[in-house]
Amino acid sequence: MRYVPTNCLKPGMICGKRIIGKNGQLLLNLGAVLQDSYIQKINELGYSGVYIEDQFSRDIMIDDIISDTLRANSVKAIKELHTGIAGKKIDAMEKLDTINVLVDEILSAVISNKGLNVNLMDLKIFDDYTYYHSVNVGVLAVLVGTAMNMNRQVLHALGVSAMMHDIGKVFIPKEILNKPGRLSVDEFEMMKSHSERGFNYLSERYAFSDTTLDAILDHHERNDGSGYPNGKAGNEISRFGRIIAIADVFDALTSDRPYRPAMSPSEAIEFIMAGADTSFDMHVLQAFLERISPYSPGTTVKLSNNSTGIVLKNHRGSSLRPMIRVIRENGQEITPYDIDLTHDRNTLGITIIGTEDI
Ligand SMILES: [Fe+2]
Repeated sequence: MRYVPTNCLKPGMICGKRIIGKNGQLLLNLGAVLQDSYIQKINELGYSGVYIEDQFSRDIMIDDIISDTLRANSVKAIKELHTGIAGKKIDAMEKLDTINVLVDEILSAVISNKGLNVNLMDLKIFDDYTYYHSVNVGVLAVLVGTAMNMNRQVLHALGVSAMMHDIGKVFIPKEILNKPGRLSVDEFEMMKSHSERGFNYLSERYAFSDTTLDAILDHHERNDGSGYPNGKAGNEISRFGRIIAIADVFDALTSDRPYRPAMSPSEAIEFIMAGADTSFDMHVLQAFLERISPYSPGTTVKLSNNSTGIVLKNHRGSSLRPMIRVIRENGQEITPYDIDLTHDRNTLGITIIGTEDI
């Protein structure tokens, strides 16, 4: 299967991966044939693209880093935690037990996936952005943690902290959280208070470790001291805070937001790399780049020799030079053939110049 951006979907295309509607119900099953009405629905739900099965991509398997069910359960738990706190239900923290179990399952999935084939073209629904985002940041942070050789206990604490990093958003009015336009100075100040509010709420009521509390407090701090709330710099920022900062920015950039469309993973990685050292910790960024590839399997890419291909497989540590199935040359469809940009000597002069919408 391959990833096709929503604006390139056409009736007759075959669904390569289940598409989930609101509240987790099935919208389209594997093998379903797209019709105009489905495409419209996919658009309305805010999917930036879906997986399609076609003649070029039938044998391309895309492994999800975590299963649909685990993701849906995690999103549900985070949603219940947030809404429980917002509704001032005292038992909101009971959700923590569930989150601990879910983080454990996420850890098992991440640890067993040693490759770089992390599926980042995640299918997110705009409405529940904060909850999906929290789960994605949890998964990404744990991936970075594995590249930093953390042990399971530390990874678990990192996963829980990352899943809860935006808990302070329950105290920010919805009109500000979901405002489509630019925030006013006052609104932005209110928005920025979420990390401190989350920290205060948890530290006043519950016995969380300092590591988790500091992670939540620090996730908008920046390496050069330009972040908030305390303008901490370099190693003053907690290690978890530095990891969650990168995971947070990457997931936000690759999601559709009310004020801008999603960036592709490669664009988001370029954006983050531009902030190396100023915004982000170099050491953490290196670990991030080791596990996160800009071109996930199933992505259609344009090559420097004017051909087009679909990414088949990434090589760890060489994420810009994956294996590719070439399907077009000079704009013309050809009999597909596979190349390996890392290992084929005759491809040394070929580079990926970007993603292509087809
Ligand atoms: Fe945040």
